[in-house]
Amino acid sequence: VSKENEQMIQAYEQLSKFYHHLLVNTNEGQEALEYLTNRGFTREVIDHFQIGFALNKRDMGLNFLKRRGYSEEFLERSGLVIKSEHSNEYFDRFRERIIFPIFDNKGNTVAFSGRILTEGQPKYLNSPETIIFHKSKTLYNFHKARPNIRKKQSVVLFEGFADCISAFRAGIDNGIATMGTALTEDHVNIIKRNTNQVILCFDADAAGQTATMKAGELLQAAGCHVQVAMIPNGKDPDEYIKTNGPKNFVNEVIGSSLTFMAFKLKYYRLGKNLQNEGEKLNYIENVLNDISKLGNAVEQEMYLRQLAEEFSLSLDVLKQQVRKMIFQSK
Ligand code: GTP
Ligand code: MN
Ligand code: MN
Ligand code: MN
Ligand code: MN
Repeated sequence: VSKENEQMIQAYEQLSKFYHHLLVNTNEGQEALEYLTNRGFTREVIDHFQIGFALNKRDMGLNFLKRRGYSEEFLERSGLVIKSEHSNEYFDRFRERIIFPIFDNKGNTVAFSGRILTEGQPKYLNSPETIIFHKSKTLYNFHKARPNIRKKQSVVLFEGFADCISAFRAGIDNGIATMGTALTEDHVNIIKRNTNQVILCFDADAAGQTATMKAGELLQAAGCHVQVAMIPNGKDPDEYIKTNGPKNFVNEVIGSSLTFMAFKLKYYRLGKNLQNEGEKLNYIENVLNDISKLGNAVEQEMYLRQLAEEFSLSLDVLKQQVRKMIFQSK
C-alpha cells in the first residue's frame, strides 16, 4: 500500500467523522437530520452507517483538511475538492448533501456519495474514481455484510443505498448495493468468493426490471443460483418497507423470492399480448432459449411441461427444439 493511498483513506476518514459530527451534533445539521428522521433513519442506523452532512459552504471541507496538513493538489486528486476552471481556487465537491461514506472490503473509507435534500439534480453525487476508489469493484455495505453473507450462504443485492439501509433495519443484514451502476464481472467475483446464492431485489420500475435481467444473466453465467424478490406496486424496497413494514418485507418480499427463470417468464410477458400469434411464438422462443441454458435437467423438464401445458404443445416437440438450441450454441 503506497503512502498516497494511506493518506487518502485518512483524509476521507477524518472528513467523514467531521460530516457525521455536523449532522448529529450541530444546528446546521438539524435540517438534514430531520430529513433523515422523516425517511425513517434512526440515530442507531445513522451511527452504524456513519452517515453525515456537508454544509452549504464552499470550502469547509477544504479548510478542515488543509489544517490537518493535506495539500490542495492532493485533495484534488482525492476527489474531495475541485479546482475552479477560471481561477486557481479550490472548493468542496460535497456541499449541502447527506454524506454516505463508501467503504472498501477492508472497511477503509474510500469515497462518499452525497444525496441532495431536495428534488434537484444530480440526486446522488459520487466521489470520482481515484487510486483508492473503483466503482466497478465497490459494493455498498459489503464490508459489514460479509460475515452474515458467509453465515447465511446468501446475499441480497439492492439498487440503492437507501434500500440496503432500510432492509438492514428490517433485519436483512446480508444486503449490499452497487454504486448506482450495472453489476460488473468484478462484483460477481467478489460475491462468488463468499456465496453462490444471490437474491436480486431491485426497484419495481422498468429500469429496475431490466437491470434484474442483466444482473441475473451475469450471475447465472458465473454459476450462481439466482432468485428475484419482486416489489409490488412499482415501489422500491425502501418505499415498500416504509408503507408495508419490515415484517412484510422479510416474509412477503424476500421470503417469496422467485427463481430467476420464473422471473424471466413474467418479464417476457410484460406488455405482450400472447393471444397474438407472432408475440406468442416470440415468447415461446425466448423461454425455450432460456430453458436450453439451464444446467439442471429436472428444472428443464419442469419448465418445458409448464410451457407445453399452457400453450397446448407437445412436450416432445419442445424437447426437440431445446436440444437443437443446445446443439447450435456449442
Ligand atoms: P432515494 O431517492 O434516496 O430513495 O434513492 P434511490 O436509491 O431510490 O435512487 P434510485 O432508485 O433513483 O437510484 C438507485 C441508485 O442509483 C442510487 O442509490 C444511487 O447509487 C444511484 N443514483 C441515483 N441517482 C443518481 C444520480 O443522479 N447520480 C449518480 N451518480 N447516481 C445516482
Ligand atoms: Mn456516531
Ligand atoms: Mn431506481
Ligand atoms: Mn430507488
Ligand atoms: Mn428510494
